[in-house]
Amino acid sequence: MTAQIIDGKVFAATVREKVAGHVARLRDDHGLTPGLAVVLVGEDPASQVYVRSKGKQTVEVGMASFEHTLDAATPQAELLALIQRLNADPAVHGILVQLPLPGHIDEELVINAIDPAKDVDGFHILNVGRLSTGQKSMVPCTPLGCLMMLRDHLGSLSGLNAVVIGRSNIVGKPMAQLLLRESCTVTIAHSRTKDIADVVRRADIVVAAVGRTQMVPGDWIKPGATVIDVGINRIDAPEKGEGKTRLVGDVDFDSAVQVAGAITPVPGGVGPMTIACLLANTVTACCRANG
Ligand code: GUN
Repeated sequence: MTAQIIDGKVFAATVREKVAGHVARLRDDHGLTPGLAVVLVGEDPASQVYVRSKGKQTVEVGMASFEHTLDAATPQAELLALIQRLNADPAVHGILVQLPLPGHIDEELVINAIDPAKDVDGFHILNVGRLSTGQKSMVPCTPLGCLMMLRDHLGSLSGLNAVVIGRSNIVGKPMAQLLLRESCTVTIAHSRTKDIADVVRRADIVVAAVGRTQMVPGDWIKPGATVIDVGINRIDAPEKGEGKTRLVGDVDFDSAVQVAGAITPVPGGVGPMTIACLLANTVTACCRANG
């Protein structure tokens, strides 16, 4: 038996439709337009692609998009001054500073300079603390997208064994918090975990977020488990022609699909959900800011 494929593109389109509906009601009933400011420092090609995509989708759902592209050599003080202006701007409800930042800039300082109410990434230390203590917070977009797909596929997650592979602040740790909030029994596995295969084999839910090409083979997966692959790794694809590449996840899809109950593909799984959740968080921030 092969796994059900969880189609992130279709799911994300549904989320965007709901967001567009909320945006239309905010405009018609309250005269409000949610606004998202995205700040990009430098010319990292992958970041440029993400930022363009974010701007395009923001406009498509009827929100206002404010893009700020700064030179890679921009002094930290200048970036902080921009954040202060965006914090004070009533037309801006969400602020996202694209990571990674150039080496001369203190990422933590910059993230914590964002007004927590406008922190649609959920990376501000106040939002991290609120999430981990079960208070109302902004929830990081990628783990939020993963949770929405898990809930849609499984219904209640209560009592299930979940393993999160990877302990990053952006995905692994907030993902574990969200699963705990759903009453899962949560294990965080990482590079120092002993017998990681055994840990993964016990899991009803596997969220792989390590950024290591196809590191989870099918024979680590418990039959029928739900597998969410957050990895986006570019590998050579000589079969497509000389110099060609393709994207693969942290899970070896071809073997895992034979064992899992459901699995997200790469590309077309978690990726599209991240931006959809960013738009949803911006609407949430706008609603909270206006009572
Ligand atoms: N870079 C890679 N993923 C993210 C994300 O979710 N938010 C921000 N701000 N930067 C990123």
